[in-house]
Amino acid sequence: MSTIPIASDHGGFETKEYLKKKLISMGYDIKDYGTFSFESVDYPDMIHPLAYAINTGKYKRGIILCGSGNGAQMTANKYPNVRAGLCWNIEQSTLIRQHNNANIISIPARFVDFKLALNMVNVFLNTEFEGGRHLVRVEKIAKK
Ligand code: RB5
Repeated sequence: MSTIPIASDHGGFETKEYLKKKLISMGYDIKDYGTFSFESVDYPDMIHPLAYAINTGKYKRGIILCGSGNGAQMTANKYPNVRAGLCWNIEQSTLIRQHNNANIISIPARFVDFKLALNMVNVFLNTEFEGGRHLVRVEKIAKK
């Protein structure tokens, strides 16, 4: 199974640890970009290295978290080959794959419980892009 990179700030730390443990038990390899405690940190410091690695193609799909999911998502989406989608329910995690070919899921850890976070990640990792008309749209996202 492929390696999944994961990163969070202190707001997403506990959920990150839960997801990491579960994904490892499911057979995934995990690259953890931190943070590694509840100590207050600045989310871009952890999110940039992960987004850079997705942008260069080192990893296919990644997981990022912060309290609201917004700061993490905004940081990751600065990279031209990154499509990070903010998800708070299963339908959103399905649609970011089917319609947007997202390569990063951003999770608002203060607004979703562990189980929902894991279910969204599972959907994100196992749902294919539909292509077709959505491909035309996705190709227009990156600023020329
Ligand atoms: C940290 O308190 C919080 O601002 C951060 O986790 C995130 O929600 C930022 O977008």
